[in-house]
Amino acid sequence: MQQVNLGMIGGGTVGSGVFHALQLNGPLMASRIGVKVSLRKVAVKAFDESRPYAIPRSAMTTDWQNVVRDPQVDVVAELVGGTTLARAIILAALELGKPVITANKALLSAHGEELFAAAQQHGTNLYYEASVCGGIPIIKALREGFVGNRITHLYGIVNGTCNYILSRMKHEGADFAAVLRDAQVQGYAEAEPSLDIDGHDALHKIGILASLAHGFWVNPKHIYVEGIRAITRADIQFAHQLGYTVKLLGIIKKFERHGPQARRRPSGNPAAGSHIQVSVYPTLIPNKHVLAGVDHVFNALFVRGDIVGDTLFYGRGAGKDATASAVLSDLADAALDLKFGTKHRVPPFVPHERKGAVVSIDEVVSPYFVRLDVKDVPGTLAKVATIFGEAKIGISSVIQPEGHEGASVPLILMLHDAPNGAVSSALKKIARLPVVKSAPVMIRVENFG
Ligand code: HSE
Repeated sequence: MQQVNLGMIGGGTVGSGVFHALQLNGPLMASRIGVKVSLRKVAVKAFDESRPYAIPRSAMTTDWQNVVRDPQVDVVAELVGGTTLARAIILAALELGKPVITANKALLSAHGEELFAAAQQHGTNLYYEASVCGGIPIIKALREGFVGNRITHLYGIVNGTCNYILSRMKHEGADFAAVLRDAQVQGYAEAEPSLDIDGHDALHKIGILASLAHGFWVNPKHIYVEGIRAITRADIQFAHQLGYTVKLLGIIKKFERHGPQARRRPSGNPAAGSHIQVSVYPTLIPNKHVLAGVDHVFNALFVRGDIVGDTLFYGRGAGKDATASAVLSDLADAALDLKFGTKHRVPPFVPHERKGAVVSIDEVVSPYFVRLDVKDVPGTLAKVATIFGEAKIGISSVIQPEGHEGASVPLILMLHDAPNGAVSSALKKIARLPVVKSAPVMIRVENFG
C-alpha cells in the first residue's frame, strides 16, 4: 500500500488531537482510501508543553523548517494559529509544491487570497476544512458537494462561545456578564473573550464561506459585524414573548435591489454584478425555525442552493476532536491527490465572479426589534411613532408592560421591513428625545424568506 507522510507544525491541543485521531483511525482511513498516512515529524514550541494527548519525543522537533523541508514529508499541516509565522510556514511548504492543511481562519481571512493564489501558482493544494466550524464538513460541501449550485442563502451559527452564552441567557434568564464569567471558568470562553463575543471569529468564518460560495474574494473590511455584548436578559425575554430567539447569526445572502435602492452602489465594486449581503450580528429568529433549537456550544449552518433547495449542517465547531476530524478529512484528500497525481483536482478557491461585491449594511432590508427605555408620560409613544412614520418605517407591533406614570418603562417595537440606514437615522433622532432615557437597542429580525 502506498504511504504518505505527514509533517505537522504545532503539537498543542489541535496537533495532539490529530496525532491521537490518526493513531485511533489511521488504519481505518488507510483501508478506505488505499493509502497509509504516517506522521513523520511534529514541530512543537517546547518538548514538555502540556498537551491532551502525548506525542512521542522521537517525532518532535522545535524547528518548523526541519519539518517543511524534510524530503520525506509529503503533506504539511499548519496548526500553530496566528497570522505571521503561520503564513510563512504555509508559503514555504507551497513553494516546495507540498499540499498544506490549515485550521487557521484568522490567517485565511487576512491572507487567503494570497495563499490560494500561491497554491495555484506552485501546482499544489491548500485544504482548510478545519478553519470553519470544526467538525462540520461545510468547506467540502461548498467546494464539492454544491459545485452545481448557486448558493442563494447561507445562515450560520458559527461561534460556539456566543451560542453557549445566548443559550444560557435564554434558558436560565441569566445576565450576559454572569454567563460570560461562568463560561470562562468552564473553559467555553477565553480569558480575553473579545475575538468571540465581539463577532470577529464569526466574521473570519463567514468571510471564508462567502468567498467560496460566491466566487470572489470577500474583503473582511466589507463584512458588517456586531457582537453580543449589548444583548440583555430583557431583550431575550421580550424576544421570546414575541416568538423569537436571539442568535449570533452569520448571513450570506444574494441581494436584490428594489426601487430607489437600485440606483445605489455596493461598497466593494461599483459595477453591476453579483451583490451579496455578508454580515454577522445578533438576530431574532422565529422560535420554530430549526436554527433556534441549536443550543450550547453547537454550530449549525442552513444553506440554500438554487438546485438543491434547503440543507442543514449541525455539529461541534471547535475542540480537539472535532478539529482533528476535519484535518483527517483534508489529509485523506491530500493523500489521494498525491496517489493519483491530481493535486489540483478541486482547487482551494477559484475566483470566478468578476463583478461580485458586498453591499453596505445601510442598504440591507429587514424587520427589526427595538427596545427603548422611556419615561411613561402622555405623548411618548406618539413622538416615537412620528419619527418612524416620517422615515416611512412601519411599526408592526408594540409591547409596553404596565408601568407607573412618570417612571421609566421599556417600550418594545417591532418594525416592518426597512433599510438599515433609515432605521439607524430614525433611532438617532429617537435617542435625542428627552423622554428616551438610554441608548435604543435595535436587533435585526430574520424570517428566512
Ligand atoms: N472560539 C470559537 C468558538 C472556536 O467559540 O466557536 C474557534 O473558532
